[in-house]
Amino acid sequence: MMTRLMPLRDVRSARSDVQCAKSGVRSPETEVRGARCEVRGSEGAHPALSTPHGFTYHRAVERLERAGVESASLDAACLLEAASGIPRWRFVLEPERPIARGISGLFASMLSRREAREPIAYILGAKEFWSLSLAVSRDVLIPRPETETLVEAVLEKISSRCQVPSSAAQFQVPGSRFQVFYNLELETRNPELKILDVGTGCGAIALALAMEIPDGRICGLDRSRSALRIAGRNASALGLAGRIQFLGGDLFEPLRTRRAGGGFDLIVSNPPYIPSAALTLLAPEIAVYEPREALDGGPDGLHYHRRIIEEAPGYLRAGGWLALEVGDGQSAAVVELIRKSDAFGPAEVKKDLTGGDRVVLAWRRAVADG
Ligand SMILES: C[S@@+](CC[C@H](N)C(=O)[O-])C[C@H]1O[C@@H](n2cnc3c(N)ncnc32)[C@H](O)[C@@H]1O
Repeated sequence: MMTRLMPLRDVRSARSDVQCAKSGVRSPETEVRGARCEVRGSEGAHPALSTPHGFTYHRAVERLERAGVESASLDAACLLEAASGIPRWRFVLEPERPIARGISGLFASMLSRREAREPIAYILGAKEFWSLSLAVSRDVLIPRPETETLVEAVLEKISSRCQVPSSAAQFQVPGSRFQVFYNLELETRNPELKILDVGTGCGAIALALAMEIPDGRICGLDRSRSALRIAGRNASALGLAGRIQFLGGDLFEPLRTRRAGGGFDLIVSNPPYIPSAALTLLAPEIAVYEPREALDGGPDGLHYHRRIIEEAPGYLRAGGWLALEVGDGQSAAVVELIRKSDAFGPAEVKKDLTGGDRVVLAWRRAVADG
């Protein structure tokens, strides 16, 4: 969620949104899209072109620009594609072509929502993360591309700590970007990798890891019951519900009360990390629409990092990894929090694709090491 202090969307996320829109993950909003499909006619053939409403791609872009939407051209094209099923490039190539009457109602409502600075992902009801199409609503933070750095970092840890190619089992999950090597010794000791995602939201990290680690058992925690409902729906839609458990409560509390215990091999989290005073500086797409409890990291943004670093050792097996997403400028402070905790080995930092520090990782010392 790095770009919270910057414009919400970039070309990459906009492309992802529309891929999601076409993928058919069901949500109240995709059901609206389903209704739209009945009126749009065959792809590529614009139906009735009379336009008393006067919509064209060009006019839609102008309206979004007037509303202060930075990526107005792209967003108008994405919404038109989602409303009509017609590839967006057609609208870009023919910006003055009237929008068919049959889709104008749906498009008008989408455009008004975007003019009010609602994020495209909420309008479409879906967002792509790690090539997975995930349902999203205003109950959950929209997963950000930079959070994929956390998934990558964790997968690298699994493969590099299990680097015995001659004796390792090698898996290529269909559709996966990674070849994951599993150490057979580790497998024997611990046949199922136990993974905990703290603050799971729509389940983005948990589901990406479940997809990549076929014998992983994942537990996702969140204080928001409505977020957990969405995460559960996403798990079912992806056929992963059998390996993922979602529990509600304050950070690790659901594990305490259920005695679901510790012994996790990995604990991951993208906790809220915007300093409270900075929330008002965020773009309206974030400040107005995304859940405050997913953003607000307390006075210095590190309230949850502190709590997780303090509490995670009770649930992490010796040698297991803790991986935390951090905001811009927060990595040094989080590394220091880990250094001060006797429970972890030296912290490592992983950068995202823009070159910013994005993930801090550390392994749990055995109690005798501490
Ligand atoms: C930044 S969002 C991350 C969502 C998702 N993991 C992602 O990366 O897109 C943080 C999540 O932590 C949850 N959260 C906030 N405070 C919490 C608490 N005290 N206990 C459990 N979850 C909490 C929020 O509801 C939100 O879903």
